[in-house]
Order: sequence, then structure tokens, then C-alpha cells
Amino acid sequence: MTEQNTKKLFERLSKTIVPTHYDLTIQPFLETFKFDGNVTIDIQVNESTDAVILYAAELKIHQATLASKSKDELKGKVELDEENERLKVTFDKQLEKGDYQLSLKFSGEITDKMVGFYRNKYTTPDGKEIRYGASTQFEPSDCRRAFPCWDEPNFKATFDVTLIAPKHLRAISNMPIISEQEFAENKDWKLTKFDRTPVMSTYLVAYVVGEYDYVETKDSNGVSMRVYTPVGKKEHGKFALDIASKVLPFYAEYFNIKYPIAKADQIAIPDFAMGAMENWGLVTYRDTALLIDPKLSSINSRQYVAIVVAHELAHQWFGNLVTMDWWTDLWLNEGFASWIEYLAVDKCYPEFDIWTQFVADTFASFLIPDALKSSHPIEVPIGHPAEISEIFDHISYSKGSSVIRMLHDYIGDDAFRKGLHNYLKEYSYKNTTTVNLWSHLAKASNKPVDEVMSSWTLQMASGYPLITVHEEQHSNKSRVLKLSQQRFIADGSADDENLQWKIPITIFTKSNPKAVTKQILMDKPEVTVTLDNVSEDDWVKLNYNSIGLYRVKYESKALARLQEPIANKTLSPQDRLIIQNDVAALCNAGHQSFVDYLELLLSYKEEDNFTVWKAIASTIGDLSSLLEYTDYFDQFKAYRLKLFSSIQQKLGWDAKENENPLIAMLRPMVLSLMGRSDDQAIIDEATKRFKKHLAGELIDPNIRGTVYGLVSRYGNDTTQEELRKLYDAADMTEEKVRLLRAMGQTIDGNAIEKVIKFVFDGDHVRMQDSYIGLVSCASSRTGRDIVWKYLQKNWKALVERFGEMSNFLVTFVDGTLSDFVDEKLADDIQAFFDATNTAIVTRAVKQVAETIRMRADVMKRDSKAIAEYLTQQ
Ligand code: BES
Ligand code: ZN
Repeated sequence: MTEQNTKKLFERLSKTIVPTHYDLTIQPFLETFKFDGNVTIDIQVNESTDAVILYAAELKIHQATLASKSKDELKGKVELDEENERLKVTFDKQLEKGDYQLSLKFSGEITDKMVGFYRNKYTTPDGKEIRYGASTQFEPSDCRRAFPCWDEPNFKATFDVTLIAPKHLRAISNMPIISEQEFAENKDWKLTKFDRTPVMSTYLVAYVVGEYDYVETKDSNGVSMRVYTPVGKKEHGKFALDIASKVLPFYAEYFNIKYPIAKADQIAIPDFAMGAMENWGLVTYRDTALLIDPKLSSINSRQYVAIVVAHELAHQWFGNLVTMDWWTDLWLNEGFASWIEYLAVDKCYPEFDIWTQFVADTFASFLIPDALKSSHPIEVPIGHPAEISEIFDHISYSKGSSVIRMLHDYIGDDAFRKGLHNYLKEYSYKNTTTVNLWSHLAKASNKPVDEVMSSWTLQMASGYPLITVHEEQHSNKSRVLKLSQQRFIADGSADDENLQWKIPITIFTKSNPKAVTKQILMDKPEVTVTLDNVSEDDWVKLNYNSIGLYRVKYESKALARLQEPIANKTLSPQDRLIIQNDVAALCNAGHQSFVDYLELLLSYKEEDNFTVWKAIASTIGDLSSLLEYTDYFDQFKAYRLKLFSSIQQKLGWDAKENENPLIAMLRPMVLSLMGRSDDQAIIDEATKRFKKHLAGELIDPNIRGTVYGLVSRYGNDTTQEELRKLYDAADMTEEKVRLLRAMGQTIDGNAIEKVIKFVFDGDHVRMQDSYIGLVSCASSRTGRDIVWKYLQKNWKALVERFGEMSNFLVTFVDGTLSDFVDEKLADDIQAFFDATNTAIVTRAVKQVAETIRMRADVMKRDSKAIAEYLTQQ
């Protein structure tokens, strides 16, 4: 069925019947992977009818009855529409308007698909025995796989959850336990009742059974907080608990609204598809997003945990208390949380200088996919919730949060907070849409928020503008700039649609480098700006701190002037890092030659900021993967060595005492880049340290991944064997992930084949981590070929195993194939996936093909000049 068709056919449930309360009992059987359930739903019938329609999927319904106020009980006839996941209960009497209770007895399977109510596999602390638990993942629309319900975000209700589970297991849900007693039918089981939830959407319901330890505390407002960990690892929960206990009160104060539940728990689930899920009162995580080993975790992992926790806790208000009316507004939920997570981490951990990292990670990461013709607007009309997976991407998250950041800057923090508070208050326990937020922010700020924002979020607005700066004339002490806007398209093609934006633009100059000289709202294709009192040779830069969503193209003289404030670091790191990023993009688009980019990078030689280097590493990484297909790759590696040598010498191999965390993150990155550029001294040192590591002298976790990666790349079969052994022996997922990433970095074809086997065959790698291995395998030219062959041969099996709606499939495609440079392969890839008919990867395939074609063009256009430049160096 085509996308169009599903959209047309899909209809949301009507509001003629609305649920107000669910009384739910679930009994899981972990030996047979089945569960029994019972639910009694209080419903209001608003129009007379003889049937009730709700959602259910993959459930067996054993009985349906309806009770009215007068208590007469009606037996219902049950019909399941598997395709549309609907359950229809028909009665032989007409139901008049009024209140009823619908009771359903049902059962289902505890699957291994990581959605609905699904199983988790774990071992006893000694690693000897395999055990199972079960947990839920309902967003966006898998609650219906666990119990029949009105599974749409705007059918909010309260929930009383009861779990019946073996006594030795913990039973945990959104709310605190109100009673726990022996289960009358079996004394080895217990019946755990949880307090009633606030009025909320079905996708936020959660329950977990399994063996867990925990650490706990209370936040400054008295909210009880626990972090549940695997048995024997409660120490690993302390870091997240500490963050959560700071972040939760921070939000309560920022929003000026109390957290409404008596407890806020977080739990590491052994098998988990995503990073984390914000279930109200019980946030679930994959363990690398929550657990920190005080001795063995890297700083990078700590930062990631801080970010994820801050993200999910923001949803407790923005998402849970106030919820989008429909999935079309998912971007707002996710974009907002992806912005405010930085605000919270910055408050609690200023040493991460996290806003600078926002520009390198979040801002810069949407600029690339959003420049593709195959991009999509932030707000996408969503018919069937199955279409959600498609927008669970960089556009919703990174562009969404960048848009919020721009808006926050445009109206200022006071107005933003005030408007936000009013919005959250008005829609508490209700549903809403994006425009309602804009109108509150407009009211609070007296600025035309709606008008400005719609050009960034609405349905026609794919992409973002390129501002071209043309200097018109010089007079004494005044400069005249002509700015023009047009959509920036990655491969340089013209924008047929002629899209235009309302762009808040800032300009600053050498004479006052730490403040904005001029601010305008550009709402025309072209504007002329006069800068007074700016000398003829002063540099001029647009987009102070990279807040606006646009790229800038300067004339070559103007770009050359920016080299000085890059080199002497007058510009902020945010500004420094984006200049090279913009230039690289302009080179890809054919506006400039990559020779200009390589020249420009030399002004960063004495750079010492982690985030600026991270941004450079990313752009130069793209170029590297291109030049790997040339016969002058060695010369490129020599260039790269020169670029990074100064910072590498400063940093060395070993951490200094009380070192800034950013330095601890910079070191491994630089070592890795130097090593991969064939720096023999670094390769030797890595080999030496790896040997010692195997002998028990453990490598500092901050550089461990780098060492593993280098020995994998430059080692042999024995090394691979050693990495695999370490993998199997490791009992921390963070360590396993480091090893898996490293394994894929070998450039030996046979070894790559073995890594792929290791990832998908046998019991070594959890399904949740397999993409990490596969993506890593595709990071080299040799590996990419092998992965592509693997995908062609095994696609059907992968779809079967992961489920045709699985987001993992998207990552298998866009995480592995974009770095080819052969147009013919772009065609092959497109043809192959067109034939497989896997709807979920349609957009990813388009993006991959477009990227490959762009890279092929760059190669044709620039290769000769780059070769010449590099040989002269
Ligand atoms: N609510 C999302 C998870 C989600 C989104 C589930 C859409 C189903 C459909 C959650 O808040 C989230 O965004 N998780 C991120 C982590 C975050 C730090 C970006 C994830 O899982 O990667
Ligand atoms: Zn989120």
C-alpha cells in the first residue's frame, strides 16, 4: 500500500465514546512468554450506539462485558480487525448516552521485538544463568499490544495498575506502590497495586517486572527518586540519580510548576530499542544512557547520561503534563526537550560548556540532511502512527531544537519563560498544538512569533536558507552589505520552489567582536545593510554564536579576513567552528573548491577548544571518506597529521590531574585521528598499551575506545580474536559498545566478514546494539562494500527479525551506505530497496542516493585540484 493510501484510509477514533479511567491488571508468565490481562475501562458514551471501538493488536480477547450505572451487565460480541488494530465490541442493546464500564479479559505474548510488553534477557551477577524480565515501550502506538485501549495521545485518562508477578521479582510502574500482598491463587506470587496516575495519555503508561537493585534519594522538593540497576550494580546508578535530583527541581522552578507525582524513577532495561523513554514517573533507558561505572566509564558517557536524563525529565512537563494533540506535533515535544536538556545540563555541569557543543552536535547535524532535496519540513502531516518512525530523525530533534533556540534568543529568556509557564498551565492534563505555544510566547514577548516561526516549521518549509553576502561599496568608515537569501541545497542545485524565510540575522565586526552590531529580521529575498564606523579592512561576520538557522557565503576577501579571528580566537568557539562547517558545505555544493577548505583549516592549527576540534573532525571525516577513494589518500593523511600535530603534542597520552573534562574528551579524538593518519609512534604506543591492558594494566576509559580502534585497524586476526574475547567477558554495555565499534574499524575484508557474523549470528551481541557494529564496519572503503553486499543478501531476514516498522532498518541504511562516491551505486541502492518494498526506509534510501550523487559530483569537480594542492604541501 502506498503512503498516500494509508494516509487516506486511516481514521482516528471518534470522540463519541471517551475513556476516563482504566483499572488494569497484568500477569506475566516469564517461562512461556505470555501474559494475562484484565482491564475495566470507565467510558462516557456521548451518542447512542450499539458498539464500542478501541484499539488492540496481537491480543486475544477472551471476554467483553459492559456494566452501566444500574449494574445490569451486557455481554459483548468481539471482532478484531488485525490490519487496523481495532477491536469492536457490539452489544445486542443500544447504549444510551451515559457512563459505563467496559471490562475485557485478554492475553498476549511477551515478544522479543522491544515494543509493547516485551521481554528482557539478563544474566545473574555471576554471569552463569540466563533470566528474563519484561517491560513496556508504548510510544507512539504500541500500548494496544499490551492492553485494549484508546491508544491516541488525546484520549487522556487515569490508570490504576496492578501487577501479578513471582515474589522474587520487582514490580514497578508509573506510580508508587499502594499495596503488596500474596496472590490468593498462588503463594509464590504477589499482587502489587499502584497508586492512581494523573490524567495522561496511553503511550506514557509503563510497567516492569524483573530483578533490580536501586539507589534512592529525595530531591529538594521532596520527590522520591530511584535509579534501578541490574542486580549487584547499584553503584552504577548514582551518577544518574545525582543528575536527576538536580534537574527535576531545576525544571520545577524553570516552568514554575510542581512535578505532580510523588516519585520519579528511572530504570535501565537490558533490551531497549532507543536511548530512553519518558514514561511518567518511570523513565526507561538503555543501560548506556543511564549507568555509569565510577571507575570504568568515560567522561563522554557521563555527558551523554546527563543529556539523556535531562531530556527525559523535561518531558515530564513538556509532553506528559501537556501533550501534543496528535503525532504531527511530535517535533515540538522532541525539539523542545532536545533544547532544554542543554539548558539543564549547563546549569548543573557548566564545565561541559554544553551550549558550544550544541552547535557542533545538534545545530551542525541537521544542516546536512536538511540541505538534501529529500528532506522534509519539521511539521509533517502524520496519518497513521506507523509514519512516526520516519520523523524520529535529525530534522525533528536537531532542527526542532535549533528552531527553539533561535526563538528563545529572539524573544529573550524572561518572555520565553513567562509564555512557557502560561502555556503549560493552560494545557496541563490536556492536549495542544504548536500554534498554542506560539501564541503564548507572542503574548509574553509582544513579538510576531507566529509569523516568524511558521516559515521554519510549517509544511512548506523544508530546508534552510543560504545568506550570500556581497559588499557593495566602501565609504569612509561605513560598509554596505547586500544580503540575499535562497534555499541552500547540498549539491548546489537551484531551489525550484523559491522558498523564503523570515530570518533573524545578526552581524558583528572586529571593532566590537563580543557583541552584536546589527540585528535585523530579514523578510525579503534581498536586503541592504549599512554598518557605520566599521573600517575598511575589518572582518565582518554574520550569525553571532550560530543562533540563526542559515549558512553564510562570504566573498573570498571577506572569508580571508575571518582567518585572523579564527587563529587568534577572538571569535567564540561557536563562531569558529561553524565557519569551516559552512565552507565545507559550500564546497560540496560547488560554490567553492575544497582547496579553499583545506587552506582555511590551516588557520585552526593552534586551536585548543574541544568542540571546535570535534566539529572539524566531523567535516574532515566526511572529506576523508571521500578521498579514501583516490590515489592521493596518503597525501591527505599527511596533511591531517600536520593539522592535528600541535594539539596532540600538547595533550599527550595521559590525563593530567584535575583536568578539564573537555580535555579528557579531546585527547582520544586527536589520538584517533592521528593514528588513523598512520602516525607510527601513535600506533606503536596504542599497541603497547593494548598488550599491557590484556595483561591487566587497564587503559584509562577515556582513551580506551581509541586504543581498541587503532589496534583493530592496524592489528591482525589475533587482535580481532582478543577484542572478541574482551567483548564476551565484559559485563558493562559501555565497554561492549567500545569493543564493538573498534572491531568494525579493521580494514581487512575477512576480518570485517567475521565482525558481521559476530554481530548477527550467535548470542554475542544484543539486537539493540547490532547497528553499532554494522555502522562501524561500514566506516572504511573495504568494509562499506562488504556491508552493502551483506544488506542485499540478508535484507529480508533483517526485516523479519527486526520488524518491518523498526527504526533499526533505517539506521542500517543511512548509517552505512551514504559514504559511497559512485553514482552507479546510488542507482543500485535505490533499485534494490525499491524492489524490496520496505516502506520505512524509503526516505533514508532517497537521502543516501542523493548524498552519494553529490559526493560523486564533488569528486569529478574537485579531485584534480585537491590532488595538486595536497602534493604541493
Ligand atoms: N520520546 C522519545 C522516544 C520516542 C520518540 C519513542 C518517538 C517513540 C517515538 C524520547 O524522549 C527520546 O527522545 N529519546 C532519545 C534520547 C534523547 C536524549 C534524544 C532516544 O531514544 O535516542
Ligand atoms: Zn524525547
